[in-house]
Amino acid sequence: MSKIEQTLSIIKPDAVERNLVDEIKNIFIKNNLKIKEIKKIQISKDEASEFYKVHQSKPFYNDLCAYLSSGPIVAMVLEGENAVLFNRKLMGATNPKEADENTIRKLYGISIDKNSVHGSDSVDNAKKEIEFFFKN
Ligand code: CMP
Repeated sequence: MSKIEQTLSIIKPDAVERNLVDEIKNIFIKNNLKIKEIKKIQISKDEASEFYKVHQSKPFYNDLCAYLSSGPIVAMVLEGENAVLFNRKLMGATNPKEADENTIRKLYGISIDKNSVHGSDSVDNAKKEIEFFFKN
């Protein structure tokens, strides 16, 4: 069953730095995901640690938070049918080496850390992540 959802997408520092923002936005638009909110910001390491706190027990947590706060990012609210899962399909696997052809991470990702985009993994997390960036 299809339903209209919202999800959070982040274009990570590696992709912003390489001027890939418009190309990535166009992939969402072409695939009928509406960009309802968008902002370019740089967050602090503390804010990144809060954002990624579900990963706090992971060995890569510190590097992950340092990386997300290392440069400007673009945060977006995407809306469309089954947006949470559909965005994850458009992004491809976390590791660009394992991502399907024509997914964002396959096209632009450099490594598992510099994988160009983040997307919420569930409707509940999408609500929390949208709140984090857009409801102050
Ligand atoms: P993202 O979807 O933003 O969610 C958490 C991030 O941790 C993930 O993308 C990767 O960039 C990063 N990461 C680094 N190492 C790993 C790993 N071994 N497994 C999963 N994610 C990792």
